[in-house]
Amino acid sequence: MINLWVNGGRIAAWVGRSAFRSFIRQQSSGASSTASSAEEILHFGQLAPTWWDVRGPQRILHKMNLVRMDFVREVVLSQLKVGSETFIPGYNYHDMVSKPISQAIEKQISQDLQAKLSEKRLELLDVGCGGGIFAECAARLPYVSKVLGIDVTPECVEVAKAHSKLDPQLKDKLEYKMESLEKVPGQYDIVTCFEMLEHVDEPAAILRHAWQKVKPDGILVLSTINRGPLSWFTTIFVAENLLGLVPRGTHHLDKYINSAEISQWFQDEYPAAHKLLECKGTMYIPAKGWILHDQTDVGNYFMAFKKLA
Ligand SMILES: C[S@@+](CC[C@H](N)C(=O)[O-])C[C@H]1O[C@@H](n2cnc3c(N)ncnc32)[C@H](O)[C@@H]1O
Repeated sequence: MINLWVNGGRIAAWVGRSAFRSFIRQQSSGASSTASSAEEILHFGQLAPTWWDVRGPQRILHKMNLVRMDFVREVVLSQLKVGSETFIPGYNYHDMVSKPISQAIEKQISQDLQAKLSEKRLELLDVGCGGGIFAECAARLPYVSKVLGIDVTPECVEVAKAHSKLDPQLKDKLEYKMESLEKVPGQYDIVTCFEMLEHVDEPAAILRHAWQKVKPDGILVLSTINRGPLSWFTTIFVAENLLGLVPRGTHHLDKYINSAEISQWFQDEYPAAHKLLECKGTMYIPAKGWILHDQTDVGNYFMAFKKLA
């Protein structure tokens, strides 16, 4: 155990540098392959049969889904404008009026935005959907009209298709395909890529193709893991080796990507065409679940980018 800890620390320092270089290299080479390694496909294929067991090997993803549904909702809401029929004082009303009045104003704004959200009919592409944990929930949202989930692991796609049949309401809204990202036609209002970039050899290629699939004014939402000793400690040493919360061999520190690298990548590749809408750290607290926090450079994180029209 101590050996694992000491070696892990050394590995963290060494790998941290090499992976950073590789992400940068992909930026400049215009990498185009969105393929995944046979090793990753085999790994996820073996996990597929128990994907929907909420107490099984993918329980951490099931728990994380709650917080990512919240994150997506908040980001989508943040892009809506309050209608002209709702009065918003032209001053900072929180300090100027009594609490009951400011609460009443807030309630009115929130109801207005909620009404606007329920009128939306957004189309969503979930890249690396796995067994469909997020795609299914997204397809149940009233403001989402269509979800396409894609993945390169055939067993995951089969499990996702079979599970979606259990809910007849999903029949015309949710579709799954075993397809690589560059082959998906069209553009979507929302493209999501959850816990997947850390499993590919060329994450910059995935980002580039995912971004091409976002409509103007649309949103790309992603989650992955910062590369550093703390991430190694929580996601590999504790989650995989100590507590067995995640199947062993799921994560490789050299594939983790820092949130700052993703921001920089967008800045370099699409300087005038993107806006970082939100970036939040997220961490798992046993007996509580995943929480969002503002420390975005350690551990797991979510990001949302808007494609400027
Ligand atoms: C950790 S799972 C996450 C699944 C799902 N996004 C979730 O969070 O519930 C990673 C998934 O990405 C898929 N994947 C890996 N490389 C991929 C690629 N190049 N294109 C599409 N899917 C990929 C794997 O097959 C696996 O299902």
